Amino acid sequence: MNKKIVIANWKMHPQNYAEAEQLAFSAIETVKEQKNAKVILCPPFVWLTDLSHKYKNDVSFGAQDVFWEDRGAYTGEISPQMLSSSGVKYVIVGHSERRTLGETDEMINKKLKAALRNGLIPVLAVGEKDKGNGREEILSLQLKTDLDGVDSGNLIIAYEPVWAIGTGEAETPEHTVEAVGIIKKIAGDIPILYGGSVDSRNAGDFVSRPEIAGVLVGGASVDKGEFKKIIDIVSNA
Ligand code: PGA
Repeated sequence: MNKKIVIANWKMHPQNYAEAEQLAFSAIETVKEQKNAKVILCPPFVWLTDLSHKYKNDVSFGAQDVFWEDRGAYTGEISPQMLSSSGVKYVIVGHSERRTLGETDEMINKKLKAALRNGLIPVLAVGEKDKGNGREEILSLQLKTDLDGVDSGNLIIAYEPVWAIGTGEAETPEHTVEAVGIIKKIAGDIPILYGGSVDSRNAGDFVSRPEIAGVLVGGASVDKGEFKKIIDIVSNA
């Protein structure tokens, strides 16, 4: 059986390196005890490469974004090769917080291709904005453009309803399993995670479903105690 996946999306936290290293240490300690979960830490770029150089043998690392060009004059951007040569293995692409800032499906498509071409495993985030109607249509539209010409065999997808992110109101495992079915019809039989207000109280309900390959955790991943509990739960699910 494949290990269930736990992705920690630290977003724009913490504000200094000492805290970032403590967060990573704490997760690494738990990973040493709980070997049945695949844990991927995604710190902000400024902490990411330092941590990945030092600790890539203890835990996996992912970036929160990447640029679509391999090299060139692109002020402020980070290339996929910079990440892979720093021991980073994964990259979140298309997070709704980036889509809100103007990232389009066409840009996401280019980022997925660039990540794959440089040996990174992309974690594509998709999800409907509003609770209720039209989920199948919205997911299909997003996936059609995001995955156009992309070999999805080496991809992870995170189903993240936007209304559930950072709100404390998670989707139900039942509805998530339905969404996983919709996504797999388009993307194939690849690992599909759930993300959106995952915490230590609900993580077990998601990962106990065989259809759900793991969880993408935002807010609760920068709380050392909460994140330790989540790894424990996922590892023992
Ligand atoms: P959240 O964030 O767990 O704080 O809702 C999830 C995410 O980063 O997508």
